[in-house]
Amino acid sequence: MKPELAIVGAGYVGLPLARCFAEAGIGVVLVDVDAERVEAINRGESHVEDVPAETLAPLVEAGTLAATTDYDAVREADAIVIALPTPLSANREPDLSIVRSAVQELATRLRKGHLVVLESTTYPGTTREEVLPILGAGGLEVGKDFHLAFSPERIDPGREDWTVKTTPKVVGGVTAACTDRACEFYGRAIDTVFSVSSPEAAELTKLLENIFRSVNIALVNELAQLCDRMRVDVWEVVEAAATKPFGFMSFTPGPGLGGHCLPVDPFYLAWKAREFDFYTEFIELAGKVNENMPYFCLEKITRALNSHEKAVKGSRIHLVGVAYKADVGDLRESPALKLIELLRDEGAELSYYDPHVAELPEQGLSSQELDGSLEKADCVAIVTAHSGIDYDRLAERARLVVDFRNATGRNGSANGRVWKL
Ligand SMILES: NC(=O)c1ccc[n+]([C@@H]2O[C@H](COP(=O)([O-])OP(=O)(O)OC[C@H]3O[C@@H](n4cnc5c(N)ncnc54)[C@H](O)[C@@H]3O)[C@@H](O)[C@H]2O)c1
Repeated sequence: MKPELAIVGAGYVGLPLARCFAEAGIGVVLVDVDAERVEAINRGESHVEDVPAETLAPLVEAGTLAATTDYDAVREADAIVIALPTPLSANREPDLSIVRSAVQELATRLRKGHLVVLESTTYPGTTREEVLPILGAGGLEVGKDFHLAFSPERIDPGREDWTVKTTPKVVGGVTAACTDRACEFYGRAIDTVFSVSSPEAAELTKLLENIFRSVNIALVNELAQLCDRMRVDVWEVVEAAATKPFGFMSFTPGPGLGGHCLPVDPFYLAWKAREFDFYTEFIELAGKVNENMPYFCLEKITRALNSHEKAVKGSRIHLVGVAYKADVGDLRESPALKLIELLRDEGAELSYYDPHVAELPEQGLSSQELDGSLEKADCVAIVTAHSGIDYDRLAERARLVVDFRNATGRNGSANGRVWKL
């Protein structure tokens, strides 16, 4: 089948998007620099939990979905979506180098009739100021010869109630014709498409969504630290507040932000805002509170061990869950990694269990089954509460538990050996 859509970047965003279009009967080719990943996809194997092999393999076999390392594949396609990483540099500034180098590749292959859409999360102005000049350098006119838009990805790994197809898609084109073309294209596979007047509005929409989460998580993380001093159960307070049917939205505290988005994206806006002599104080404050959480968790473990007359140094600490969120294996920016570093600095002997993460090569650790590890550990710290683990049993068997996710719930509170965030 001729691919109508080329997606550059076969990651957490690109692969689910490819599946959505392929399931709508539209031929898709994924372009990725990672040859191993490309070969695996072409064998019907998936590295993204949300796209299980059972759904990927039939699409590959039917010839509706394929992957390649060759950028020339974009020539044939009508639409090209860019779903590439947008990380921060070492000094926490936007690093668009991956997107820029990919756009250079696309520019040499751009032809009349192409639709190009950037989906990578980024600061307002990227599509117009960074992508357009590179694509337009060959003389093709945007809005006439080719179309360019921004449409933010709303993938939430592990979520099952909303899919790429059913989650409304926001689209903003560089010109009105660009918006229309992009809306029409997404409308072929996605149920609801919502247009905005510019790529900047679409870029900022995504950042607002992520900053909203980051700020609210910071608020409840700060409250958790106050509750710790006041000896009030923050989980009980959040649960009670959530019974209000209006005007309150529930966010839960935790050991810190993880994943590709929340710890990173707000700083894209903070950086851009400085160009306008504007300081985004909510973003900075939320970042500060959330980044402090692993340090607070260290303190909590230290105090818990102290209550057993033990020091962190030399204690055997078994972490449960190291991925950044429940039921996925994604380690990006996971607060567990920071906690491991902090505990090691204090001389703790570490082990972990995570059904989704077999190895932590950089830390020299591999997942150890709970049976056998629980009784040996001086302290068990629940960092990410994957489902399928019997936390009540864990709380009964371990000598000391520090639960950063309320996995032990009220049973945990009743048990004197469980310390909760
Ligand atoms: N992961 C999420 O949950 C999520 C959600 C919403 C938005 N986003 C945003 O989407 C964008 C993509 O994130 P992701 O999570 O899919 O990243 P990812 O790391 O999972 O995937 C990126 C893919 O791009 C490939 N790649 C790197 N450089 C390349 C190049 N020059 N040419 C072709 N392929 C290249 C990599 O090999 C990898 O397969 C980011 O901007 C992110 O912020 C991510």
